Amino acid sequence: MRIIEAHDYEHMSELAANYLIDKIHTNPSMVLGLATGGTPQGTYKHLIQDHQRNHTTYKEITTYNLDEYVGFSADNPNSYHAFMYEKLFGKIDIPSANIHLPNGTAIDLNDECKTYEESIKESGGIDVQLLGMGSNGHIGFNEPGTSFEATTQIVHLAQSTREANARFFHDINEVPHEAITMGIATIMKSKEILLLVAGEAKNEAMRKLVEGEVDESFPASVLNRHSHVTIIADKKALSGVTVR
Ligand code: PGA
Repeated sequence: MRIIEAHDYEHMSELAANYLIDKIHTNPSMVLGLATGGTPQGTYKHLIQDHQRNHTTYKEITTYNLDEYVGFSADNPNSYHAFMYEKLFGKIDIPSANIHLPNGTAIDLNDECKTYEESIKESGGIDVQLLGMGSNGHIGFNEPGTSFEATTQIVHLAQSTREANARFFHDINEVPHEAITMGIATIMKSKEILLLVAGEAKNEAMRKLVEGEVDESFPASVLNRHSHVTIIADKKALSGVTVR
């Protein structure tokens, strides 16, 4: 894993956006894996700015998002569909047909998992997957204890995850208990992974990722087994972490 240290969140976002823009210029029809949450928002802002100023085009880019809440349709303002349109898709020139998120309101959710997995495969696979990490080490919504072999699946959200995400809702009771997420095996099939980590609250998770064992009790640790991972983390997240 290559680790790049950023001064702060803003710097991390700028470095991450430049990293992605460079990849897009090299391969304008790449398949991009995307993430939601607080971490990638700054990166998306920079992608939009670059699109407006430098006209980087997304016309031939295909995207797959990591996850969606079960029971939330695309027009629910707290859905990850809505998040992505507000924070990125609505402000760049990507055709909606190229955008993929799991359907959290599918009648047959297990079938939706299979279809999503199949669709990623048919696209040729994800070239670069952007990831955030939960303070409990989750990637996507794969909580501690998830099998490293899992493909796209329905998962039960950890209470700590619901508490962390409650800031996006009026009330914690509105935070769903279930989500549909790419599995660890799906994420690991990406040709390249870009993990962003910022803030003191992620410092302990960062330490476990870099210094700890590879174990299903800490999902992100699996990234140590991937041959092409870049981590961009800020000083606060990296504070006191021994980078090998
Ligand atoms: P955050 O979430 O970016 O909102 O901190 C990261 C994650 O849970 O994967």
